[in-house]
Amino acid sequence: MDDQAARDRIVIVDDERDLRHIYKRFLEIEGYSCLTAGDGEAAMQLLEQEECSLVITDINMPGMSGIDLLREVGAKHPQVAVLMVSAIDDRKVAVKALQLGAFSYMIKPVSRNELVINVVNALRRRFLEIAHQRQSEKLEDLVQRRTKKLLEAKQELAVASEETVLRLAKAAEFRDDETAQHTLRMSHYCGIIARGYGFDEKRCELIRLASQLHDVGKIGIPDAILLKPGKLTADEFALMKEHAMFGFRILSDSRATLLQVGALIARGHHEKYDGSGYPEGVAGEDIPIEARIAAIADVFDALTTKRVYKDALPVAAAVDILRKGRGGHFDPALVDIFLSEMDVVSSVRKRFRDRGDQPGIKSLAVE
Ligand SMILES: [Fe+2]
Ligand SMILES: [Fe+2]
Repeated sequence: MDDQAARDRIVIVDDERDLRHIYKRFLEIEGYSCLTAGDGEAAMQLLEQEECSLVITDINMPGMSGIDLLREVGAKHPQVAVLMVSAIDDRKVAVKALQLGAFSYMIKPVSRNELVINVVNALRRRFLEIAHQRQSEKLEDLVQRRTKKLLEAKQELAVASEETVLRLAKAAEFRDDETAQHTLRMSHYCGIIARGYGFDEKRCELIRLASQLHDVGKIGIPDAILLKPGKLTADEFALMKEHAMFGFRILSDSRATLLQVGALIARGHHEKYDGSGYPEGVAGEDIPIEARIAAIADVFDALTTKRVYKDALPVAAAVDILRKGRGGHFDPALVDIFLSEMDVVSSVRKRFRDRGDQPGIKSLAVE
């Protein structure tokens, strides 16, 4: 006896007792284990109790028809194959049965050979379908696990690159008076303006993060100038202005968008809308929008916070300065956006309040 045949239990359903027994005998000779049922309900009960591979069912039976049984088996035991047997050679019923998932359709009288061939065929097809389904599930599982790993790696990379930016910004902060709180407040102001301008959330977050690098070029300014108490000479100031291009040179040529935007902001955050700024004296929309946004955010924060060499201006006075700078120092449309968001601005001010006096000397933002 074939091992596979012994494992494949078959349920034979027919309201004619003799036929059930004939089929059973034919199949037992081939090594199959068979159960019989006189109607659809009894067949369903057997399927609940025993693990079966195949149902061979008559179509015309009192009570549940063979087609109804086929439907129920499909819904409740989708892994069980079904073979249909009918006394009438009706093409329409045959097509319907096959559409509903029957593996084959036999016309009575069914010969022993025909029965066995159809059973072997149905069980083989069922075996292949189950194997195929398991393979697909395995593959799907593999794809899901790989995708999850990839997403985790991507996330880790995003966190690492964001942290690199923050630490780079911090390195520049160590060198002068502008504190981490300044960088954070200023970057959030940039986010507010970008959002008001209508950039999508991803772009706003990019601008916010990149703006933290605006003064990274101060790393390249000698201590004697950066930390000099009191006013800088014209030459010293000229050198100090180099921090914009230093920042650009540190950050440009990167393939990372975050650093590319950071480079534009570093170079352009001291440019003025009327072309009177530095390092290149570009004007209007020739200044990248990210830098025009950063200019407003940087100046507003420098004006409204206390430094050793100056007191904080009241917000109203800083607002006045921004308003007066519309079209001169600043992009007028972006100033308007910023000024219309003062509620959010003040919540950022509260959230990142400075603690105590800040050490250091000067902020170029208010020069
Ligand atoms: Fe600067
Ligand atoms: Fe700044």
